[in-house]
Amino acid sequence: MSAMHPITPIIRTGAYSILRDVSRAALETARLGIVRGPVGIGKTFALWQIAEDLSHGDDQVFLIEAPSDKSKSVRRFYQSALYDIGVYGHGGADPFDVFAGYMLRSFPFRRAGQRKRILLIVDECQRLAPNILETLRDAYDGGWLARNGMTEEPAFGILLVGNHDFLKRTRSEAATFEALRTRGPIKVELPRPEAGEYWALAEGLFPENDALRSALAKHGAKRGNLREMAEAHALARHYAGGGPISAIHLEKAMLFAGGTM
Ligand SMILES: Nc1ncnc2c1ncn2[C@@H]1O[C@H](COP(=O)(O)OP(=O)(O)O)[C@@H](O)[C@H]1O
Ligand SMILES: [Mg+2]
Repeated sequence: MSAMHPITPIIRTGAYSILRDVSRAALETARLGIVRGPVGIGKTFALWQIAEDLSHGDDQVFLIEAPSDKSKSVRRFYQSALYDIGVYGHGGADPFDVFAGYMLRSFPFRRAGQRKRILLIVDECQRLAPNILETLRDAYDGGWLARNGMTEEPAFGILLVGNHDFLKRTRSEAATFEALRTRGPIKVELPRPEAGEYWALAEGLFPENDALRSALAKHGAKRGNLREMAEAHALARHYAGGGPISAIHLEKAMLFAGGTM
């Protein structure tokens, strides 16, 4: 991300504030949160920051991303998840057991000094096969004693984040949907960015050129998407070949960066 947009300024978005609030709630209560939102509004961008911001002291937030292949292999999912959170060399042990055990080192309801809180955030959940979601639910259910008042027992929070395809009520996913819906006390639908957010991002990308800034902000607002703005900007810079970006460069870039494939 940073390689592609080395000078993207960070703007405060509504998505960031909501995701942060929800993450805190899920972390502090060891509960399940479900967040859905449109593509390109800055969810992933915000989650990286939030995972870092909230990880301090006895709080630890792990962020993993669902693999892009909709794979049903539980083993592979947890192998890669363990790798992502920095746990290596678990020998022949079952990766799911290792992962669940690792998350269940979280004792959110112990008294101060002995407390430790873990939150797992899974991004791009619309890519998760239902059977994988079910295993996440199983790991989460490992915290039921703690959630039912046994303060010495372990439990960790989970935040599942995806676009609007996540937990759509298709027939094959209905059971998974129900099980998660009834468990998830925290549910949020993220809105599209507000008008000011497109302008703030355009301002950061074109601080010195009113015309380009305005064209880019309008493009973003029309598309309801921050990512396309950042991509159009990067592409326009490429077209400009090291020189100043012109309206023609930007227009061409917006045309291509706004594709609907
Ligand atoms: N708060 C922000 N500040 C600056 N740029 C942002 C911000 N949020 C998103 N962007 C830009 O939009 C791009 C896409 O955001 P991303 O987090 O991938 O969206 P989503 O996960 O909602 O699809 C980012 O790579 C970045 O260029
Ligand atoms: Mg994303």
